[in-house]
Amino acid sequence: MSFTIEKIHHVAYRCKDAKETVEWYKKHLNMDFILAFAEDHVPSTKAFDPYMHVFLDAGHGNVLAFFEVPNQPEMGFDPNTPSWVQHLALKVKDRDALMLAKTHLEDNGIEVVGVTNHGIFHSIYFFDPNGHRLELTYDDVTSEEKVSMITEAMKQEMLDEWSRTKRAPVHTQFLHNEELEEVKQQLPMGE
Ligand SMILES: [Fe+2]
Repeated sequence: MSFTIEKIHHVAYRCKDAKETVEWYKKHLNMDFILAFAEDHVPSTKAFDPYMHVFLDAGHGNVLAFFEVPNQPEMGFDPNTPSWVQHLALKVKDRDALMLAKTHLEDNGIEVVGVTNHGIFHSIYFFDPNGHRLELTYDDVTSEEKVSMITEAMKQEMLDEWSRTKRAPVHTQFLHNEELEEVKQQLPMGE
């Protein structure tokens, strides 16, 4: 291969209402509205499908974008995929920043799950007005050390084991020991 991917240029999701989305991300996540474009025809497919495309600043050159496509049926989500699976994670500086965000969101009536301890990072979860699941997270001070314990060989072994058995390999259970302690105590031995 003679090329490498440099970075994520932007990610794009559908939104219900472009204005509401821009305002929500500014109010709750302090993300700036940096660009908009709109057409009646889709540049890639040439289909007639009037759209508004808005771009938000996710820090350090990262861009989060949305499309409003009012001529399409109301948006939904894959009913066979649990709502926690597909999400966008945004990094904050530290625990103080995370707790400020959690308080702000809850004060505004937004339901927040967490803080969840992933060993290498700590996260809260909530939904934007379009139903997209968002995660805010900061890296644990032991993050690098813990990640370095998950070697190349281990990752490959885990992937192969999963592919073969579809049961979770135990190699990285040390990451969630604390968070899942209670759940695991409730399970019968061996599970
Ligand atoms: Fe995540």
